[in-house]
Amino acid sequence: MTPDENLESELKRRTRFARLVHTPSCDSTQELAIAADTDGGRESDDAVFWADHQTRGRGRQQRVWDDEHGLDLAVTFRVTAELSRPVALPAGLPVAVLRAFEPAAARPLRIKWPNDVYVGARKLSGVLVDRDSRHPHTYRIGVGVNVNRLTFPGELAETATSLALETGGTFDRHALLLELAVQLDELLAAIERSDTAAHEQVFRERLSLLGRRVRVTAGAVREGTLRAIDFDRLTLDDGSEVPLAIVTALGPLP
Ligand code: BTN
Repeated sequence: MTPDENLESELKRRTRFARLVHTPSCDSTQELAIAADTDGGRESDDAVFWADHQTRGRGRQQRVWDDEHGLDLAVTFRVTAELSRPVALPAGLPVAVLRAFEPAAARPLRIKWPNDVYVGARKLSGVLVDRDSRHPHTYRIGVGVNVNRLTFPGELAETATSLALETGGTFDRHALLLELAVQLDELLAAIERSDTAAHEQVFRERLSLLGRRVRVTAGAVREGTLRAIDFDRLTLDDGSEVPLAIVTALGPLP
């Protein structure tokens, strides 16, 4: 069995993902997943789209996502699920990423609003969730993780890190992708059965903002001490509640 065949078989055995599409290069795995939809025939299966390199990897807010060929992870999970609380998916996603990669990083990872995963002051992973306008229960969940690369171009050299840089090790990307799929599957199952308390606990802990003075941008800008936060809303010390769905920025005040 090739490593890809083995991974696909483990995905089938341990997760909802019935199919693996692994390509050496594409523009973006988000677009690869869309193209697979329009190819017809198998548009409803939950599938994993993985590229060794993206030529136009998409970040949030029109940014570019950079990778190094064959060294990092760029993957899109296409999922069709009836989520009564869809906002829990982007909020919970960094928790799934953190759970999947923390054993490899061998140190605590943290979540930076809205859903980046950091090692100390440097970004390890970013995620992107697209909802299909024609099929509202279909999500394309994109995850980029810096795994085995040792250098970054331009300003990323000051802001990004990889598992290899943090540990001095090299990592089996097939094994990491399987673990990520398992954690994502568990998150989706938790949302489906309305049992996200454990994920929300990790989210709170690793955001590390409870009890701190924060600035919240949600249309208007507010400042206050963060009293509570879950996947639905945050509460400030003046009692004001803000739905997470409308929060565009959240960070500590000095
Ligand atoms: C961000 O931090 O701005 C989000 C980055 C998301 C990158 C991943 S890599 C796999 C998938 N395909 C893309 O083009 N983007 C996402």
